[in-house]
Amino acid sequence: MSDHVDPPECSFDKWAENYDNSIASDDGCFGRYEEVLDGVVEAARIQPGMQVLDIGVGTANLALRCVARGADVIGLDPSAGMLVKAREKIDQHTSIQLIQSAQPFLSTGYPDDTFDAVVSTYAFHHVEHETKPDAVREMARVLKPGDVIAIGDLIFEDAQAEEEALQKYDWLDKEPFSRLDELRAEFSHLGMTLDCHRFTPVSWVIHATGIKQN
Ligand SMILES: C[S@@+](CC[C@H](N)C(=O)[O-])C[C@H]1O[C@@H](n2cnc3c(N)ncnc32)[C@H](O)[C@@H]1O
Repeated sequence: MSDHVDPPECSFDKWAENYDNSIASDDGCFGRYEEVLDGVVEAARIQPGMQVLDIGVGTANLALRCVARGADVIGLDPSAGMLVKAREKIDQHTSIQLIQSAQPFLSTGYPDDTFDAVVSTYAFHHVEHETKPDAVREMARVLKPGDVIAIGDLIFEDAQAEEEALQKYDWLDKEPFSRLDELRAEFSHLGMTLDCHRFTPVSWVIHATGIKQN
């Protein structure tokens, strides 16, 4: 059993009020935030007309970048408060649909082969280690064959790198962070290859490509 206790949903609801301001001034976990989001948009090769799924959409910062590139976005998030803030930032003509969903990485609610890209930033580390393989399978399931899953998040190369970072950075709390060695194996089981780019000592943009095998 993991000793991690996920914050109750209401903690994200409360954080929503000042989320955008708080991350703008955070050089720790959210260092190079804007570049990480741009890195995900680039890695996912977002283009006009694409149908994009953003999991853990939060206040829609990534979703709005995808829309600026001409994509239609569905954003899923468990936090009603985050979605309220997201709705304040988009007008009725913006092609973003926001949906509250209890466990959006584990059950997106969409049929196989629906999306041209599945993207996410700073949310995958809220999925428990035990269920990360299920989440990887679910993202691949709803992705059209040959397309891209792109994730920006707090990620470590392996368990040792995570332990060293936890000791080094007092702003880093223990959470079920992904490890690249495990993610590579999980995507490889699905016939997909993972490319990884480090942005800060704790954050990476990763993207999986290749024809998935269900
Ligand atoms: C740090 S915020 C990131 C928001 C946004 N993607 C961004 O890059 O600014 C984390 C988001 O993940 C959502 N979240 C929390 N637990 C989650 C889970 N198990 N699955 C998906 N999203 C989750 C939170 O409600 C919150 O909106």
